[in-house]
Amino acid sequence: YEGNNGINQERTGFAQNRGETEREDTLTNRQGHPISDNQNVRTVGNRGPMTLENYHFLEKITHFDRERIPERVVHARGAGAHGYFETYGKVGDEPVSKYTRAKLFQVEGKRTPVFVRFSTVVHGSGSPETLRDPRGFAVKFYTEEGNWDLVGNNLKIFFIRDPLKFPDMVHAFKPDPVSNVPGPVGMFDFVSRSPEATHMITFLWSPWGIPANYRQMQGSGVNTYKWVNADGVGVLVKYHWEPLKQGIKNLTQEEANKIQGMNDSHATQDLYEAIERGEYPEWELCVQIMSDDDHPELEFDPLDPTKLWPEDQFPFLKVGKMVLNRNPENYYNEVEQAAFGTGVLVDGLDFSDDKLLQGRTFSYSDTQRHRVGTNYLQLPINAPKKRVATNQRGGQMSYFVDKAPGQSPHVDYEPSMTDGLVEASQTAKPHQPHYDANLVRQKLDRTLDFKQAGDTYRAFEDWERNELINNLVGALSQCDVRIQEKMVEHFTYADEDYGRRVREGLEQAKKGSDGDSREQAVEDASRMGHEADPY
Ligand code: HEM
Repeated sequence: YEGNNGINQERTGFAQNRGETEREDTLTNRQGHPISDNQNVRTVGNRGPMTLENYHFLEKITHFDRERIPERVVHARGAGAHGYFETYGKVGDEPVSKYTRAKLFQVEGKRTPVFVRFSTVVHGSGSPETLRDPRGFAVKFYTEEGNWDLVGNNLKIFFIRDPLKFPDMVHAFKPDPVSNVPGPVGMFDFVSRSPEATHMITFLWSPWGIPANYRQMQGSGVNTYKWVNADGVGVLVKYHWEPLKQGIKNLTQEEANKIQGMNDSHATQDLYEAIERGEYPEWELCVQIMSDDDHPELEFDPLDPTKLWPEDQFPFLKVGKMVLNRNPENYYNEVEQAAFGTGVLVDGLDFSDDKLLQGRTFSYSDTQRHRVGTNYLQLPINAPKKRVATNQRGGQMSYFVDKAPGQSPHVDYEPSMTDGLVEASQTAKPHQPHYDANLVRQKLDRTLDFKQAGDTYRAFEDWERNELINNLVGALSQCDVRIQEKMVEHFTYADEDYGRRVREGLEQAKKGSDGDSREQAVEDASRMGHEADPY
């Protein structure tokens, strides 16, 4: 026998380990059998062959073989933290109950536990965190009424407004399906045929496309949701997270390249270490509110996720703050297996008719049944921190029967004359919007694809505009001339100066493609990043 008894002896004294009673730190298998040799497989003689009844080895190796689940199809690379949300009990200066009856918001100072997962979007779970990409900002509120997930991004708008386009968009942004080499060609090919993406592209290729880390960035629900009050009256809302003391910081491409050369996990490390040091990041939750109608007076449709709601007309109203103060105990259990979805709402919060939001709402729980498993909601990170009682039974990895205390285990259906679960009584007035329209395949009327991109371009500081032009020229000069021309056309519709500078940059890059003038142009335009003003 050449097990690790020497180590045991060193650590604790072997004699005790051989005693009648099993010590608490004794290694066992999942059947509870103590393992006395974790170093040697069972063989015929010490040179083998192995025998097939090596139960401990087989259990150990087969579990290892299954240690990975499929990574998220998007947002695969992420980091998470626990904390709490504290409500101000008001929305701006008004009582929050005027707009929503959701309990988590009502009483000033009430705290609700949260779990947050930040992520990059396009690339795999081992990709560097310095890539130009939106950042995910998903928050799970474990409220007294069950879970609420606010699944957002750092940027306040999105590339597209119709969910039918999402799988194509993601294919276009991911690495080439043949070579597996990433590059900008697919992205620009797709967005040159999707003019509604011009605004998002303007943010993404500016320094706002590379937040310095996860703490120093904003968050946004992007889609339009609804709040519903006790009278069943709904309003349209957009959610925004504004970083408090840690501020906002973005990177230039050059700064990101430098970090990437040294560390591919800088954002995960930054979040983890800040929390370990006791420097807890904080964000304020703000909402913008509009009455629940189609607002013909606006140039854009309030259900269009490619649009910002102008802050001067729809001010950011403070609702509460979130503090992240605890790191996960196990990355896999809590961060990898966490499952967020836009369908996860509590009473007083509702969907709007934003089509992208409705498409998303199907997609999340569908992929989670594939990625984590049928019973993903029984895992502690996903389960609400309140009573759950359903008639859902079985399925892979079913861990417990979520029945009510005292409920007959025989009655796993509803309705029943004898026992089993009963429906909740409807206490609050339902929100029941009325519809009268033909069933069609049509886009929204007010597309306004370029105007806000121009506003954003003009609102950037000089260094941000220079960086944007520089990054776009670098990426577009790798694309087919037809793509270049279309993109220049879109940028020109947004702002003449914007289009002109990209066109001139591309011409210069073309001229210099044999020499070094492209590199020179890129160098000329490059600037170092600094603290950013919020948009
Ligand atoms: C993750 C679909 C748009 C934010 C995901 C996942 C899918 C998905 C399938 C993987 C989920 C998982 O494996 O758990 C879609 C579809 C969209 C869409 C179909 C549009 C039709 C958006 C938008 C945002 C967003 C507009 C931002 C507001 C996120 C975030 C995650 C995610 C933050 C990661 C959640 C986590 O940390 O686990 N999305 N998405 N998605 N999506 Fe979307």
